[in-house]
Amino acid sequence: MKPVRKKILLGLAAVGTLAALSVGIYAYRQVSAFDASMAQVYSTPLPNLGRSTDPAVVARGKHLVESLGACATRDCHSSDLGGGKTLELGPLGTLSAPNITAGGFGGAYSDGELARLLRFGIKRDGRSVRMMPVQDFAWLPDSDVVAMISYLRTVPSVDRPSGPIVVKPLAKILDRRNEFIFDVARRLVNAKPEDIPAPAPSAAYGAYVARLCSGCHGERLSGGPIPGAPPSLPIPLNITPHESGIKDWTYPDFEKLITAGVRKNGQKLNPFMPIEAFAKLDETERRALWAYLQTIPPLPYGQR
Ligand code: HEC
Repeated sequence: MKPVRKKILLGLAAVGTLAALSVGIYAYRQVSAFDASMAQVYSTPLPNLGRSTDPAVVARGKHLVESLGACATRDCHSSDLGGGKTLELGPLGTLSAPNITAGGFGGAYSDGELARLLRFGIKRDGRSVRMMPVQDFAWLPDSDVVAMISYLRTVPSVDRPSGPIVVKPLAKILDRRNEFIFDVARRLVNAKPEDIPAPAPSAAYGAYVARLCSGCHGERLSGGPIPGAPPSLPIPLNITPHESGIKDWTYPDFEKLITAGVRKNGQKLNPFMPIEAFAKLDETERRALWAYLQTIPPLPYGQR
């Protein structure tokens, strides 16, 4: 080999090694930052909120747990809240939402501990919960937190062991890059209280309800593959008012999708989208969601 060519090859090999090394260092730093954050014990005090036995409060709690909270879905805590099935998320890890009835974690948590979990994503031991999307409903007012706790106390106890949770390095890196949320409390402990509009079929209220959608459809709701998700998961579509989204949809089309899981094109919606929860949203919440979706910027598919 000519000396010049040999030099070039050696140079390229050196650049390649350096690049691999810096990717390695980057990954190591992100994983360490994630682990340190998850090991943190928060000093956030327990909110002074407790259960009520008022049937109207319990009924409101049932509604929230089953719809806006999306707790009782098959991929989350399951319809009996006794713990959902184990989801294999490929390179991200393994997720199983635990049993939260009296026979599971529900029995161990005090009302204040449950309130802190639902507000800040902090577990009983003071550490962050993993991947439970508290950020989607942490905006609910105190009266709704009380309602959810009150309902949970009335749910029949289930005797079923909770499945495994494994968070792999790719998930930790995506979390630190804000592409996916696994470390929940870090985002919520210092969140400023928001001025939440009262429930109404308005875009302003819909903006809050729509937080339920952004984990899958993306922050800007234009869809595209969920970062790091295995190919076995279906791809969330564009739900902005763009040609590639829901521009030509009417409210009845949207209602049919949300309540019956049937798309405008007549196809059945993939059950990965938790329609069993969304079907229980009430008319005000559905109308608010629809009103909000009309006001967001129309973006081409895939801008997340
Ligand atoms: C767990 C992930 C997930 C969540 C949460 C979610 N979706 Fe979806 N959504 C999907 C997937 C995946 C598809 C595509 C399903 C298919 O191809 O059948 C979809 C499809 C849709 C469609 C159909 C688009 C079309 O062209 O047929 C609409 C509309 C929609 N979602 C609205 C919503 C709204 C509104 C919310 C929040 C209340 C929401 N989604 C929450 C995953 C999700």
